[in-house]
Amino acid sequence: MRRKKKAILPYMLKPKSPIERVMVALDFDELEEAVSLIEALRAYPVTFKVGNQLGTYEGWLRVIQTIHSTGAKIFCDTKFKDIPATVERSCRAITRHQPEFFNIMADNSPAALIGAVKGRDQAVKNYGLKKKPVLLGVTVLTSITDTESQELYGKVAKEKVLQFATMAAQNGLDGVVCSPQEAALLKENESTSSLLLVTPGIRPEWAVAGDQSRVLSPADAVRAGSDYLVIGRPITKPPESVGSPADALERILNELEEM
Ligand code: C5P
Repeated sequence: MRRKKKAILPYMLKPKSPIERVMVALDFDELEEAVSLIEALRAYPVTFKVGNQLGTYEGWLRVIQTIHSTGAKIFCDTKFKDIPATVERSCRAITRHQPEFFNIMADNSPAALIGAVKGRDQAVKNYGLKKKPVLLGVTVLTSITDTESQELYGKVAKEKVLQFATMAAQNGLDGVVCSPQEAALLKENESTSSLLLVTPGIRPEWAVAGDQSRVLSPADAVRAGSDYLVIGRPITKPPESVGSPADALERILNELEEM
């Protein structure tokens, strides 16, 4: 009798502690800068989020291998958007490099969303990989205001986020990237409540908003239903009064632990 193979589940779905919730955005030009930030936060088992700025310049394989060699986890903010066959092949390619998380744009066509899941799953199967990366769909960027959302999509951000997240859930993605301001809406809605919510647009009280529009504090984001918090500049470039990146992260963790 043939033994049924145990299915490989996506890497880690729910964070179990405040530190596991934190994804630090390494928005740097060169790997050297990223590595010094990783070194500065060595004591903290956070996930590092890398975007196209660093991935394109240094090459995804090099970035992923370097971050993994420090023992840290990586979220590749690849934001793929293309015709279905290309999305599928891109997801297969990044899966072969074995990041813990990666993403596509959730406003791809349903066929491309299905292709993304297929590309990831087939890579795991065909190449005998150990890890199935968590596949996320980016809904409406957290820098986009309601006015811009109206201009771009004809609806306010919340409505479009719900629509894109519903498509992501229906087509088998593990979660979505959205603003913490939409987290409660997605957790309460039956068609999106099972999605993992990864939220940039996190601003502690002591940080400046910068180009982010739809923001919440770390504790308010978790209260609203965020699972993972993507935090860039408040940690990588904290205000002088806060101190170093490690000091900023400590403050954020204290806020989360006091909840
Ligand atoms: O510095 P800050 O905390 O604003 O960084 C947020 C990070 O999250 C950036 O790397 C940005 O590209 C990313 N991001 C975002 N909004 C999304 C998806 C990703 O701000 N919807």
